[in-house]
Amino acid sequence: MTQRVLTGITTTGTLHLGNYVGAIRPAIAASREPGMESFFFMADYHALIKCDEPERIATSRLQIAATWLAAGLDPERVVFYRQSDIPEIPELTWLLTCVTSKGQMNRAHAYKAATDANTAAGEDADAGITMGLFSYPILMAADILMFNAHRVPVGKDQAQHIEMTRDVAQRFNHLFAKSESGGEAFFVLPEAQIDAEMELLPGLDGRKMSKSYDNVVPLFEGGSKALKDAIARIVTDSKLPGEPKEPEGQALVTIFDAFATPEQRAAFRAELRAGLAWGEAKQRLFDQVESQIGPMRARYAELVAAPEKIEKILLEGAAKARALAAPLLARAREAVGLRSFTAPLQSAAAAAKTEKAGLPVFKQYREADGQFYFKLNAADGTPLLQSRGFAGGRDAGAWVARLKREGAAALAEAPVERIADEARLGAALQALAEAAAAAE
Ligand code: TRP
Repeated sequence: MTQRVLTGITTTGTLHLGNYVGAIRPAIAASREPGMESFFFMADYHALIKCDEPERIATSRLQIAATWLAAGLDPERVVFYRQSDIPEIPELTWLLTCVTSKGQMNRAHAYKAATDANTAAGEDADAGITMGLFSYPILMAADILMFNAHRVPVGKDQAQHIEMTRDVAQRFNHLFAKSESGGEAFFVLPEAQIDAEMELLPGLDGRKMSKSYDNVVPLFEGGSKALKDAIARIVTDSKLPGEPKEPEGQALVTIFDAFATPEQRAAFRAELRAGLAWGEAKQRLFDQVESQIGPMRARYAELVAAPEKIEKILLEGAAKARALAAPLLARAREAVGLRSFTAPLQSAAAAAKTEKAGLPVFKQYREADGQFYFKLNAADGTPLLQSRGFAGGRDAGAWVARLKREGAAALAEAPVERIADEARLGAALQALAEAAAAAE
């Protein structure tokens, strides 16, 4: 079975080398492995909790989106979107909020740290704390459960949130799964994937690279000059040029390692032991990092200068994401009792069951007018989509192939009339794409 991996980045600032090495690079590498289905998103609803500067949020989400793309994310392979483009997420958040114990949220680290700081300062425990901060873990649970992710790569500080997500999912499953016809569990219980590497990259002062320590090496912002300036500020010992130096434990060397092959790592160590000056060593480090980051930075600059391209990619990503989110939310609404008064048999649960019973089919045919057409029918024969006429059969065939390959993302451009609603269509195309991928 395919493994679903999902992770988000809160859009409150710009990214540094530690974010790249610890989160973005491994996530993109993993997304290229066979059998992986990756979901990467800009957690911009989460950003609102920490930041009330609209300009900063607007800039950050563009920069972070451009960073993912510049670093090699393939939006055809990955579901790549802005959290705030998926209205199903806040809707699911409410359903989950109603089964989340307040006592458990009282114990969330971020909230507790804030109340502890208030108490220590002699203030009311909840002074300045918003409901957004308090409910943060529930929104995060909705991010994850919305797509039934199996694995969530996060930093250590987020482990508690994944644990809470599991609890909320279990509670929802326990309360509502049985009322649904199949009785199968609603939500997958996700596992946190806490990469040792994510914690590894040291900053300028040797502590973990983190904005809160003000010790970061910027990834793209400020250009190669900012990279060079930051590297110049990395703390070393005070050994003189020519004196042998112990490479292990030097922040400079650990950062070098993150961008080097085993041979390059060994050669760098040998040079330091032979007396390479720290100034020279910093130049080597700069050249090494720049050789990999430089080309990406150029792409980054191009992307930031063409925000309409990023917008288009993200809207296509949102369409893919919503094609999965809408049917799941429909089932969840149904399960908690938010049902149609008039169409109990057309319920989402029933529709989901039909969808599962068999794959939808594309049919190509020629009409009396001599033109070529195709349509998409659900397994039970319900028409979902109807093309316009094509002069050649090949043109119709090419569109069928593209819709099969790209799913809902191709829908916006396809010369078709939609018969079923967006959610149903998306789910049908997704099912076809999954079947095709499984057959590969
Ligand atoms: N809370 C995460 C952080 O600050 C960001 C995030 C939001 C996230 N939703 C998520 C990470 C879902 C993983 C899965 O780092």
